[in-house]
Amino acid sequence: MNHDVIIALDFPSAREVYAFLDRFREEKPFVKIGMELFYAEGPQIVREIKARGHKIFLDLKLHDIPNTVRSAMRVLSRLDVDMVNVHAAGTIEMMRAALEGLTREDGSRPMLLAVTQLTSTSEERMRKELLIASSMPDTVRAYAQNAKDAGLDGVVCSPLEAALVKDACGPDYATVTPGIRFADSASDDQSRVMTPEKARLGGSDLIVVGRPITRAQDPVSAYRRCVKEFIGGEKDVVD
Ligand code: C5P
Repeated sequence: MNHDVIIALDFPSAREVYAFLDRFREEKPFVKIGMELFYAEGPQIVREIKARGHKIFLDLKLHDIPNTVRSAMRVLSRLDVDMVNVHAAGTIEMMRAALEGLTREDGSRPMLLAVTQLTSTSEERMRKELLIASSMPDTVRAYAQNAKDAGLDGVVCSPLEAALVKDACGPDYATVTPGIRFADSASDDQSRVMTPEKARLGGSDLIVVGRPITRAQDPVSAYRRCVKEFIGGEKDVVD
């Protein structure tokens, strides 16, 4: 799978997003639209960013009864995004329903990923609050395998877990990893972070980067630095 850098568009409104995207004159970065922007602006923001030529990861992390997720995915499949996701905790049956709903009549569909365990969930909370007695690596491995059994294309996980997912599910199973920081930048509220270069060496296919790019003095340079550190000499500018 092609390596790429996905910019997390964590902005509260369309105005801020366009001011940010307008800075990019030579590249069309792959972008992630999350709950904040989607709930603020609705599906129109997705259509507009797509029309500008960006690839889109719609990060809505669906988790509900299978029938509801199937119907919601049928609606999302019309938005022509490149990637969407669900929580693996919703069960294999729910993930299968998501895949069904997402698949268009002609058989095409966006990539579908599963969130294993959120990087904000600690092993202690998992045990005490969620009553999951297994270790974090065992849980992530099992959830990734469930998602693979359901027919999904890969998972969203910590860059620290990408290698174990590849090991359990094979090299073609996609790993998309947030929690990325430059060696010299602040970690913000992310507790377990990795540099772009280490993420690549650790098995991440796609990295999701928010604040190190969106809050940089010069976001275009920060994006280019990120691509260079992550992709290296493979290609100079992502398409
Ligand atoms: O600003 P920062 O680089 O921390 O942004 C990371 C992005 O990835 C945010 O949009 C956040 O919601 C998302 N994310 C994450 N950890 C996860 C899943 C998604 O940080 N486990």
